[in-house]
Amino acid sequence: MRHPASYRDSAFLIRTPHRIEIPHSASSVKIPSVEPIRSVQWSPDGTSLRIIDQRRLPLDFVELDLKTVDEIRDAIATLAVRGAPAIGVAAAIGLVASLLEFESESPVLFRARLQAHAAVLSSARPTAVNLSWAMSRMTARANSALTTSTSELIAALRTEASDILTEDRAMCESIGAHGLQFVADGARILTHCNAGALATAGIGTALAPVYLAQRDGRHVSVFANETRPLLQGSRLTAWELSRAGIPVTILTDGMAASLMRAGEIDVVLVGADRVAANGDTANKIGTYAVAVAARHHGVPFYVCAPWSTIDRATPHGGAIAIEHRHADEVRFAGGGAIAPAGAAVRNPAFDITPAELITGVITDKGVYRAPYSFTYEMRSRD
Ligand code: MRU
Repeated sequence: MRHPASYRDSAFLIRTPHRIEIPHSASSVKIPSVEPIRSVQWSPDGTSLRIIDQRRLPLDFVELDLKTVDEIRDAIATLAVRGAPAIGVAAAIGLVASLLEFESESPVLFRARLQAHAAVLSSARPTAVNLSWAMSRMTARANSALTTSTSELIAALRTEASDILTEDRAMCESIGAHGLQFVADGARILTHCNAGALATAGIGTALAPVYLAQRDGRHVSVFANETRPLLQGSRLTAWELSRAGIPVTILTDGMAASLMRAGEIDVVLVGADRVAANGDTANKIGTYAVAVAARHHGVPFYVCAPWSTIDRATPHGGAIAIEHRHADEVRFAGGGAIAPAGAAVRNPAFDITPAELITGVITDKGVYRAPYSFTYEMRSRD
């Protein structure tokens, strides 16, 4: 099901006139109230995965209902749905949707098909651990289900996918609560790529403390690196923050260091696609350069990630597979060529920020600092 809406007409872009008042010191601060962004969810009839097609933002707000394993794999690979937590949730719901038409198969055949679909979805993108994490959870649920019928298996899988969705929303809120202490009233936050509501099922990871600061009545503003080549910062972060009434300024990717030098950035908050056991973090290409500049200028640099992004089985960043994408993403922009035909291009989608450049990792379970252990007991107390 598609229901296109133009950028100008879309109610999703226009702040609702309704406003809520939040008590704040002597006066009250007016916070715009908007419908939450639902980047991934079940379709209302429960038979499909519904996503916001992020390839078309900010010009068009279009939702897609997807059912087949190929449609869902393609949506993930082409970044119609993107962001580490969102692709994990999308794959979980999508896996169930893709299996519904096989309800009449025997449980043995159905289990084999489930493994095959999970493998296809897992391979859509290599770097974000959330994808394989979600598929492992789904197959483990099927393996442990003591059922005699395929329909019971499907019911168990549906519950697991819904749990993954609900837990992701809760993890975002919890990251926001743990990160709020680093976002003072008046804070100027730098972020890279999009680690907001569009990248999760909830209010985001790196942007969660920002949304909670706004809810708390704090006046905060965000600098969003535009994030070449696919412009998640300017197309997506700027879109969702403007929609929420949070001041946002887009920077070109080379600009952050000079703003830090000028004392205009108080804190850096970024997301993660995979955090290795030693704290090394894979995130959107360009994150490493931001971390180097932040260290040089004494600006705190926090990675915000749900527990599903922490990969304790991967010892260090060198062991994380980095996705390399097609050269045309760099050679073309806005439908036109911006480089000589056939120019050599490198297009890694992610880089590794070494743990020593990271001030802390803000998770839903608490804030972790070096040396990283990522066990509940060892987390820092702040
Ligand atoms: O290629 P993308 O747009 O999926 O890359 C996304 C990022 O790098 C995000 O920072 C990361 O997935 C965290 S999203 C909460």
